[in-house]
Amino acid sequence: MPTALVTGSAGFIGFHCCQRLLQDGYDVVGLDAMTDYYDVALKEARHDMLAEHDTFRAVIGAVETPDLMMSLMAETRPDVVIHLAAQAGVRYSIDNPRSYLESNLIGTFEVLEAARAYPPRHMLLASTSSAYGSNTDMPYRETQKADHQMSFYAATKKATENMAHSYAHLYDLPVTMFRFFTVYGPWGRPDMALFKFARAILADEPIEIYNHGEMKRDFTYIDDLVTAIRLLIDAVPPRPGAGAAVAEGDSLSPVAPWRVVNIGNANSVQLMDYIAALETALGCQAQKTYLPMQAGDVPATCADTALLTRLTGFAPNTSVREGVARFVEWYRPYATRNQG
Ligand SMILES: NC(=O)c1ccc[n+]([C@@H]2O[C@H](COP(=O)([O-])OP(=O)(O)OC[C@H]3O[C@@H](n4cnc5c(N)ncnc54)[C@H](O)[C@@H]3O)[C@@H](O)[C@H]2O)c1
Repeated sequence: MPTALVTGSAGFIGFHCCQRLLQDGYDVVGLDAMTDYYDVALKEARHDMLAEHDTFRAVIGAVETPDLMMSLMAETRPDVVIHLAAQAGVRYSIDNPRSYLESNLIGTFEVLEAARAYPPRHMLLASTSSAYGSNTDMPYRETQKADHQMSFYAATKKATENMAHSYAHLYDLPVTMFRFFTVYGPWGRPDMALFKFARAILADEPIEIYNHGEMKRDFTYIDDLVTAIRLLIDAVPPRPGAGAAVAEGDSLSPVAPWRVVNIGNANSVQLMDYIAALETALGCQAQKTYLPMQAGDVPATCADTALLTRLTGFAPNTSVREGVARFVEWYRPYATRNQG
């Protein structure tokens, strides 16, 4: 059975990703530091569900801990490494930049060093649509320049793309970087809009809407995202000079087996329509407080997913109406169980 080492396995995306790999017959080793950025009980509940599989093993620790990744890689020799552990969130990075430096930059360095010593068949690392920064030329294409990040979070993520590129070049490590676009769904993140809004609406409290509601996001449903990740595992970037010329629109490096791939829904939705979908699914109206734009944020995102589709044959297509309804189906009983 192939082995995957997944960092951030107790996180929203890591949990779903591990579930899919376990269903597909992988042995999975999940590393997570269980940070208290949000409710640790939610992270433990995700790990508990993964532990129902005999082929899952959880390791609790921080990626940046010296020697931890090295010994884990030496011991497990994974075929695939999926590095999702990070300090996430644009807004939190304004007041807490150091945790991004430690988790994202030093953490990714440790992952790369361990992969250099024990090379997997393919390494896949999470970056973000925020890497496009102030770009306004939409939809965002992977081949666009992306040099003007608006938050320290985005800056650390863009830096990890470059760090991984240098390792791919120097040590012949095949690397795929994902740029995820606003992911949502069951078992989601309590610091993200959908979760915060659902909690406030059900508690009859106002929801805070930034930029006076003038926001558009390419909302990506978690199952689509995980399908894309699963398929990209087998789309190993070829080594330079391996034959075919780099196709138009492919972000493949001319000097390394490295590429960056957008994973989005290719459909930018108005924030107010997203909220309306939530109100419909919950069957109640939100009290709305309108606020100015938050520092570090951007008014709109939209992915061009042509490269993803070319590499995998897959195009994410879950509508916000459907995806938000599935989130609410999960959220209601979860919130009831966790009241008080
Ligand atoms: N959710 C989104 O919309 C989105 C969008 C773009 C990019 N991303 C990226 O995708 C990845 C997964 O995000 P998520 O939404 O699942 O976030 P998450 O916060 O739910 O998951 C991250 C997990 O990593 C763990 N972690 C944090 N720092 C760590 C460290 N130093 N060592 C080990 N574990 C650590 C946390 O405990 C958490 O369980 C992150 O890299 C994030 O930056 C997410």
